[in-house]
Amino acid sequence: MADDEVLLIQKMPLIDDAEDGPGIVIWTVNRPDKLNALNSEVNAAIITAAAEAEKDDSIRVVIIRGSTPPVPAEGERGKPPAFVAGADITEFVGVDSKKIRKSFKADPWDAVWNISKPTIAMVDGFALGGGCELALSCDLRIASTRSMFGTPEINLGLIPGGGATQRLARLVGYGKALEMVMSGELMPAAEAHRVGLANYVLPPEKLEEVTMTIARNLASKSPHTVRVAKRAVRAALEKPLSEGVQYERDEFCSLFDTEDKEIGVQAFLDRSDPEWTGR
Ligand code: COA
Repeated sequence: MADDEVLLIQKMPLIDDAEDGPGIVIWTVNRPDKLNALNSEVNAAIITAAAEAEKDDSIRVVIIRGSTPPVPAEGERGKPPAFVAGADITEFVGVDSKKIRKSFKADPWDAVWNISKPTIAMVDGFALGGGCELALSCDLRIASTRSMFGTPEINLGLIPGGGATQRLARLVGYGKALEMVMSGELMPAAEAHRVGLANYVLPPEKLEEVTMTIARNLASKSPHTVRVAKRAVRAALEKPLSEGVQYERDEFCSLFDTEDKEIGVQAFLDRSDPEWTGR
């Protein structure tokens, strides 16, 4: 892992000291001088990492975070902590609709959204614009108390383009999403927690520890069943209620043909820990 890479990828074992076996992958968006803004290089790296996470059976959970700000030189103004402060605005200069549309051929938000495994945004600091959208593409958002969420694109004469008008409205409701997108006002972590944008809000010094505990818990489930659970709940975003309930029923029934259902049920009866096969 070279420190100059724009996306650092670190695999953590599920059990401390384990050299092999399942694990959690942590991606660190690594542009600390630019508050981890998403330029085309980061976007491409996220897309590649997402494809790798999807096909690597040993990866059970993906965590996305931002790099910590550099220590300022004496007398210099320090940079604030950031998850991701948005798409890199310098890449917008002089770009027309044709060019920007083409850039969506490399779509990091959809790449993360389409990962079938659990994904967690570990947010410490600014999660703005495309950064807020990256967090919205994850399943959980775990934030530090000093984090700020927002969609300030309106201040650039723009609207969100990475899915916020849709995913935010589904997550926090139409009214709050509309207010955020139209005003561009930033939302502190406590409020983000209150409206359901952040699942948990924690003191910065606790953020990593608690995120890892949550990730390890998710990673301890049957990887197959967790995927089914994710796509069943996701179906609620797309389907009318009766169709969605039917979809859930079909998924539920299909699990009765899996080894992991037999393993889980037997482990309950034996009062033992299930050892999932993922089948
Ligand atoms: N794209 C490109 N560069 C960005 C950036 C972005 N989205 N967000 C921050 N940066 C850069 C700044 O230009 C600055 O670079 P420099 O030190 O080379 O001048 C550096 O990151 C630090 O940001 P700075 O603005 O100096 O920090 P601050 O503490 O004064 O303000 C923010 C922090 C987050 C309020 C401010 O950076 C900001 O508003 N960023 C843009 C947010 C945005 O509009 N995102 C949506 C984009 S679609």
